[in-house]
Amino acid sequence: MDLFAKCQNPRLEEYRAAQSMGLMPFFFELDAWPGDLVMLGSNNYLGLAHDPRVRKAAAEALETFGTGCTGSRLMNGTLSLHRQLEEELADWMGTESCLVFTTGYSVNLGTISTLVGPRDLALVDAASHASVVDGARLCPGRMRSFGHNSVPSLRRRLRAWADQGGGGALVVVEGVYSMEGDLGAVEPIVGACREMGARVLVDEAHSLGVIGPKGAGTAAQAGVRPDLVMGTFSKSLASCGGFLAGPHDVIEYMRIACRSFLFTASGVPAAVAAALCATRIARDEEWRREAVCDRARQLHRGLADLGFQVGEPPPAAIVPVVIGDDWRAALLWRALLEEGVYTNCCVAPAVSKSGALLRCSVEATQDEADIDRALLAFEVARSKLD
Ligand SMILES: Cc1ncc(COP(=O)(O)O)c(C=O)c1O
Repeated sequence: MDLFAKCQNPRLEEYRAAQSMGLMPFFFELDAWPGDLVMLGSNNYLGLAHDPRVRKAAAEALETFGTGCTGSRLMNGTLSLHRQLEEELADWMGTESCLVFTTGYSVNLGTISTLVGPRDLALVDAASHASVVDGARLCPGRMRSFGHNSVPSLRRRLRAWADQGGGGALVVVEGVYSMEGDLGAVEPIVGACREMGARVLVDEAHSLGVIGPKGAGTAAQAGVRPDLVMGTFSKSLASCGGFLAGPHDVIEYMRIACRSFLFTASGVPAAVAAALCATRIARDEEWRREAVCDRARQLHRGLADLGFQVGEPPPAAIVPVVIGDDWRAALLWRALLEEGVYTNCCVAPAVSKSGALLRCSVEATQDEADIDRALLAFEVARSKLD
């Protein structure tokens, strides 16, 4: 059997058909679209990706240090910028130490696969992001999932693991889930892990900057201290990269043992400087947190009033609109684009139980009129389909 045979996947046929009809919602070249768009399809939650201070910090780092570090953190890829960012993030997260990675994906991949040894268990929420699932799949130990946000299911899994005499367990949860935008049950899960002797990693990718005191995330909001916290720079922090924050000895171990940290080039100076500048602004400018949450609630309320299936009010910046059918989602995505609104069309395997959805997310720098314009576009776009 030729291993290239799988490239004739029927799903690809569907993609090609969508492409030929102008309905391809993926790999869309945003800069080539004529006219203004209300952006409901980015993770630029605090609106810092175009902030003049962040751009200036990136430009200065580019001028001073060049376009890339051309090597790994271990060898020639560490600048004082990386260390400064690590110190500020550890301070923000209230941890002893922090390690900056080149992407958020590599933080989860490397942390889980490095810490979960051959006798150990990686126990992840059923709605986990691909980076969490991939880290658990890569680890030499066992991987299991527990019901989404279900503390009883988590307890059952941990009890079964203890009964069979397994080694240590690392539980991984998210502060805000990336597709549905719902809050993770961080407080009771951290409590259950403490009680049952498991370590816990909280992924704050979508909560950092948006939730908690000074935007420190959902664990800080709940007043609990997980063993480890990770975050990415690719959302509120307007850049690219990620971090792991935790106890000094764990971070120092990761520094010499984590393959996704060691065997890849370090974050480019402009990206690190942008993340550092955005971190300072995210901590200081409270109005951004208030604005992004206000806009998300306005969008949610408006869509619910129009009869769209939007679920519970959003705890952060993400408002998922459940469509169900893939083709209808693509048609609505395209009709919205023509009305000047960009959304993210999400289909399986990114979404599972609800079926296709248009994942909408707002930015702190959008105003009420932007959201009103988006709501009108939803109404018009739907009427074109019906
Ligand atoms: C929950 C979660 N964790 C980790 C990541 C990976 O982060 P990055 O895209 O910055 O590599 C993402 C990105 O989409 C995410 O949604």
